Amino acid sequence: MIKIEVNMTIGIDKIGFATSQYVLKLQDLAETRGIDPEKLSKGLLLKELSIAPLTEDIVTLAASAGNSILTEEDKQEIDMVIVATESGVDQSKAAAVFVHGLLGIQPFARSFEIKEACYGATAALHYAKLHVENSPKSKVLVLASDIARYGVETPGEPTQGAGCVAMLISQNPRIMVFNNDNVAQTRDIMDFWRPNYSTTPFVNGVYSTQQYLDSLKTTWVEYQKRYECSLDDFEAVCFHLPYPKLALKGLKKILDKSFPQEKKDVLQKHFDESIIYSQKVGNIYTGSLFLGLLSLLENADSLKAGDKIALYSYGSGAVSEFFSVELVEGFEKQLQKNRLALLDRRQALSVADYERMFFEEAKLDESGSATMSGYEGQDFALIEIVDHQRRYSKVEK
Ligand code: HMG
Repeated sequence: MIKIEVNMTIGIDKIGFATSQYVLKLQDLAETRGIDPEKLSKGLLLKELSIAPLTEDIVTLAASAGNSILTEEDKQEIDMVIVATESGVDQSKAAAVFVHGLLGIQPFARSFEIKEACYGATAALHYAKLHVENSPKSKVLVLASDIARYGVETPGEPTQGAGCVAMLISQNPRIMVFNNDNVAQTRDIMDFWRPNYSTTPFVNGVYSTQQYLDSLKTTWVEYQKRYECSLDDFEAVCFHLPYPKLALKGLKKILDKSFPQEKKDVLQKHFDESIIYSQKVGNIYTGSLFLGLLSLLENADSLKAGDKIALYSYGSGAVSEFFSVELVEGFEKQLQKNRLALLDRRQALSVADYERMFFEEAKLDESGSATMSGYEGQDFALIEIVDHQRRYSKVEK
């Protein structure tokens, strides 16, 4: 593999995750919708979905995920906050500005939002890397925060989800370094989109899966050409996970049939470890790929410093990117090992409660105000809307 020489190592120094406190079991959804549960558990490889109430949005999820990894020292050193999302709460004010305030990050920072469907966070990481290259003492907080809502009784319904992956980007990172090897591809297509007047997306479902797989194949071929490598150079591949079964098809598509069975088994084992969290959270759009990466890191027992992990990012519309990272010495000390137990603590909802909660909208009075309730279990919450202004707060315990 061609080694790209860089003067400075830049990458992910910390990684964290937040999701909502409610869960819908897909067994229950299947029974209510009259679907064979195996269509969801085997056909899509999904088990549960996180459900966010009205008081939990991309701002509160991002604040919770950021808060779970940052120290007071980090907050003084961060000079850029980027929220990648396609479920923004305002067409003008960036979610990152709310989050900057909620987390108490020092004032001389840039805060903004970035969008290209599920690809946004990959672009944000690249920008963060360029910023640290220019300004080596900087730390950048990247928050991949989304709530995926397809609508009741749509084909996408079992693939909804809610969550945020927070990543702190710096030089000399303690988890992984970015290899300087990104290959991106853009295609102007309509496979999944959400016009401003619609709260749920329009989806050409089968077409979107074909585009995901074809973008993977062609970007991977170009990557191999540019960097003279094969999957043999990687210990694992993480994929954007709209639902894990599609990513499994992706892995099979790029797996060299002539590989020894032993290598195929390693890639398959690491793939299985990378989908554990998504199987219980659903699609979190921009954060999905990185939730897969986190799941791999926290559930694999055979990864070691120096291992290379390939990442495939796909955002409808469509932009895709293939790139890789390399684990550094001591990476395992930065991880949290009880995340599955935390996910199991979420409160299970009946299908009727899920329908009521997930699709509820704020009931504004004539002045554009509403008071919220029921957010005691959250870390951060949307507590009220006053004259059309969203007011957020840390929830005191
Ligand atoms: P569907 O109705 O679940 O489709 O919709 P299906 O009937 O083809 O079934 C799915 C799989 O279940 C099939 O397996 C069936 O055979 C199997 P496959 O043939 O694919 O291997 N199956 C069963 N298995 C076991 N027991 C059974 C059974 N019955 C069927 N009884 C669809 C699938 C993708 C259309 C739908 O989920 C959807 O519209 N999803 C939303 C769009 C999406 O996720 N697209 C993915 C690519 S685009 C992307 O990744 C970007 C995105 O994240 C957005 C962004 O970028 O912002 C979506």
